Amino acid sequence: MKAAALGLAVLVSLLYAGPLPAAPAAPAPVEKPLDWVAAQKTCTGQVLDDCITRYFKDTLEASQLRGRLVFQYYCVLCHGPQGRGDGRAAKLHTPPPFNLTRSVAPREYLELMIRRGGEAMGRGKGMPPWGDNLTDEQIRDAINFLFTLRPTHLEKSP
Ligand code: HEC
Repeated sequence: MKAAALGLAVLVSLLYAGPLPAAPAAPAPVEKPLDWVAAQKTCTGQVLDDCITRYFKDTLEASQLRGRLVFQYYCVLCHGPQGRGDGRAAKLHTPPPFNLTRSVAPREYLELMIRRGGEAMGRGKGMPPWGDNLTDEQIRDAINFLFTLRPTHLEKSP
């Protein structure tokens, strides 16, 4: 009995070690790089780069960065790394891949062109239809990225 009582006392004293220590202060939230230049410095832009998911929530900037990955993966071959229509396969196409930095087409037209391809839009069939290959989100992201290629994008977001 005595031993059991002692054991209980030890247990209770182990469990109750005085007032609980204050919880450690939460670390200050990391400054989110929401500006485009900072974003490009932070994320390498490599395909499969999880930086974008780590650093950005669902903002226009996040969509543009995801769109950049879509573009690098599917579009660069023809449209070139800066979208100037000078990709490695550009010479194979007449008319040549569009210089997307000079595009003034509205969002709706870009979407139709990307989904249906050039031929269905009465343009060159060098531009393939992507509607069956890209998700709605990928198409939306790619369009948001295309606006960043335009000279006006830093003045005004699409
Ligand atoms: C196989 C080559 C090729 C690939 C890959 C390609 N394009 Fe194109 N794209 C073209 C060609 C060629 C044109 C020009 C057609 C014309 O002017 O008649 C064009 C035109 C466009 C236009 C029309 C721009 C305007 O303002 O009229 C858009 C938008 C476009 N491409 C987006 C994309 C996107 C986004 C991707 C990737 C998902 C992509 N293209 C992949 C060849 C390609």
